[in-house]
Amino acid sequence: MRDKTPCEKDTWDCACFCFLTQPLLISRMFCLLLALGLLEFSLAGAMEIWVPHEPVVALFGQDATLHCSFSPEANFSLNDLSIIWQLTDTKRLVHSFFSGQDQLADQGGGYANRTALFYDQLALGNVSLLLRRVEISDEGSFTCFVRVQDYSSAAVTLQVAAPYSKPNVNLEPNKDLKPGDLASVTCHASRGYPEASILWQDSQGSNITENVTTSQVANEEGLFDVHSVLQVLVEPSHTYSCLVRNPLLQQETQASVTITGQHLAFPAVALWVTVGLAVCVVGLLAVLVYVCQKKIRQSCEEEEENARTEGQDEEGEGPKTALQPLKSVESKDDDEQEVD
Ligand SMILES: *[C@@H]1O[C@H](CO)[C@@H](O)[C@H](O)[C@H]1NC(C)=O
Ligand SMILES: *[C@@H]1O[C@H](CO)[C@@H](O)[C@H](O)[C@H]1NC(C)=O
Ligand SMILES: *[C@@H]1O[C@H](CO)[C@@H](O)[C@H](O)[C@H]1NC(C)=O
Ligand SMILES: *[C@@H]1O[C@H](CO)[C@@H](O)[C@H](O)[C@H]1NC(C)=O
Ligand SMILES: *[C@@H]1O[C@H](CO)[C@@H](O)[C@H](O)[C@H]1NC(C)=O
Repeated sequence: MRDKTPCEKDTWDCACFCFLTQPLLISRMFCLLLALGLLEFSLAGAMEIWVPHEPVVALFGQDATLHCSFSPEANFSLNDLSIIWQLTDTKRLVHSFFSGQDQLADQGGGYANRTALFYDQLALGNVSLLLRRVEISDEGSFTCFVRVQDYSSAAVTLQVAAPYSKPNVNLEPNKDLKPGDLASVTCHASRGYPEASILWQDSQGSNITENVTTSQVANEEGLFDVHSVLQVLVEPSHTYSCLVRNPLLQQETQASVTITGQHLAFPAVALWVTVGLAVCVVGLLAVLVYVCQKKIRQSCEEEEENARTEGQDEEGEGPKTALQPLKSVESKDDDEQEVD
């Protein structure tokens, strides 16, 4: 958290500073040793300044606080305090404060009305910067420079992030497909930052991120629109999922498409079911016809036979079925005789 003292930054800076500020000859000797790189120590009384060690992650369009603070002397007055916030690379001025008030005449374009200090916290040594409505171009390193009697500076890194929208997943072409056709599954997610990583999965969750073309294009605000296209050979009822991941936010959003009958020229499964059913029905009809014919023939024969039996009064050759219950007494007797 603590920033480097001049001594940790540049040995010669430190040594000169040390040589000029130490009152005793003996302590000046230490400064020479220091200059030779033989010693490393922090100067007593050098101003300490704290900034976050890790980059600050801010959401696009929201406000961010870049923390920076020092330990003020007990008798310190705000009039003696100078604060400069500037871009570390270009030294462009983001915000400055001295003589007890903001000094924004030289403020860099793009920061107007977007910066503020926490004025009630200044006397406590809190010189954090409030940056409003964070933009993608704000990403980078900001230097916090503070001077009272001593001075010190430290840098804070700002990272901007924006979550991706839930993707739209579509099949192209989306109708009249036949199994085995080549089709594209497209995935589109928008307004995220930084660049997304795209993962395609099938219904089993296996990685099918192969034969994929992905493009990520920044809009005028710097936010990315991501398009990913997966080439597939059409297989009915297969599912393709597109997972869009924002690496900085650990955000993951996904959507999927399943190849169903509405995409297909003729639903293959339905075809076979229809054919199967048709065969069954025809078969059943054939069996039915056969059975009926047989029954009809049989009953005709029996009727003829019965007619003959009644007419000639013969015995022992009666009908073997129970189709004619009216003549069952006679018939039963015949059957029993046969069994015996
Ligand atoms: C603060 O007090 C110290 C001694 O305690 C003194 O050396 C220094 O000049 C004072 N600073 C101010 C701004 O009054
Ligand atoms: C900042 O705010 C002032 C006062 O509200 C306004 O006049 C000025 O146009 C604003 N500047 C920008 C860059 O928005
Ligand atoms: C400085 O002020 C900000 C805003 O109130 C606060 O979030 C932060 O914790 C303060 N820092 C310290 C070191 O007190
Ligand atoms: C990628 O395409 C090749 C050739 O077109 C094919 O053999 C392979 O199976 C495809 N990979 C996937 C995961 O679909
Ligand atoms: C998925 O497969 C692609 C290509 O084979 C590979 O680059 C990627 O790292 C894999 N992702 C995961 C999460 O396994």
